[in-house]
Amino acid sequence: MREDSRSGHRDGRDFLLAGATLGVALLCDPACAAAAPLGYMTAFGTRADGILPLTYGTMAISCLVSVLIAALLAWALLRHRGTDRSGNPRALAVARSGGGLPWIYVGVGVSTLVLFGAAAWTMVVLSTVARPATKPRLTIEITARQWWWGVRYLSPDHARTFTTANEIHIPVGEPVAFKLASEDVIHSFWVPALHGKTDVIPGQTNTTWLQARVPGTYRGQCTEYCGQQHAHMGFVVIAQEPEAFETWYRHQLAPTPPPTGDLAEAQTTFAAKCGLCHAVRGTPVGGRLGPDLTHLKSRTTLAAGTVPNNPGYRGAWIADPQHIKPGSKMPRLDISSPELARVQAYLDTLD
Ligand code: CUA
Repeated sequence: MREDSRSGHRDGRDFLLAGATLGVALLCDPACAAAAPLGYMTAFGTRADGILPLTYGTMAISCLVSVLIAALLAWALLRHRGTDRSGNPRALAVARSGGGLPWIYVGVGVSTLVLFGAAAWTMVVLSTVARPATKPRLTIEITARQWWWGVRYLSPDHARTFTTANEIHIPVGEPVAFKLASEDVIHSFWVPALHGKTDVIPGQTNTTWLQARVPGTYRGQCTEYCGQQHAHMGFVVIAQEPEAFETWYRHQLAPTPPPTGDLAEAQTTFAAKCGLCHAVRGTPVGGRLGPDLTHLKSRTTLAAGTVPNNPGYRGAWIADPQHIKPGSKMPRLDISSPELARVQAYLDTLD
């Protein structure tokens, strides 16, 4: 019994310790994006830096108002505690001390002032984060679809344009412009550590920008309910030092080497099974319904952040996507084991 209560104490202490450690990590550690992938209480980008004081400020005001109301309510309740209602139980309802109206004037006045102040503050913040200090050199076009993100790097030089999916690399320390389009329903583009939300609306192109201050991997998420797999419509923004970013960029531009020997047969199987929906740049496979698979292996996740990108999950995803992401537009293929092995062998070449 005593042992149990001691271990209970220890569990409680460990829990508190873990909570405190997490709290400190969230407030101090730049790597906290990993600890709280969608945490918006710490900023790592210019736009989020501008928004964060407003978040804390309005939160403090809300807490203060709640505490004040609770205190006034408690005071009002306690004040009438001693009232004698033995004679007539209804007496209290009509027994008014009078003079309550000034409270209403004061309450409305204070609320109006606070709300007006918060609205003015919000407008100032919105105008300061509306556009970057310098013109972005890089523009990325995002196409949202149920339930993944097409990512196209635009450039006046067509040879420097390419398409990828669900993973956005950006150079750290410089602003990047985004054009947001949707091919089906309304989605919303959000990387909490870097910037506020921007809706992605079919039939129009919204624009936004972001700038990372600290290199790192920042989780993004669709934040407008868009159907069954809305929660699995994630992405990552990987902010890199400019040289590392340029290396990645050049690698993405590189064409896929033509397959030889057994791999040529594997590519034929891949084209037959996957080619209607997926594309691999520099090959005859050019489907446009699903993510572009050129350099697929360089990405960290599959199915818009649903599972890690490794050979095991790639096989499982192709064999039965509906098991991993029910409702996904990727159909369950009629594929035999040898065919699956050939498709996997081909995908393994897409570094
Ligand atoms: Cu897309 Cu929610």
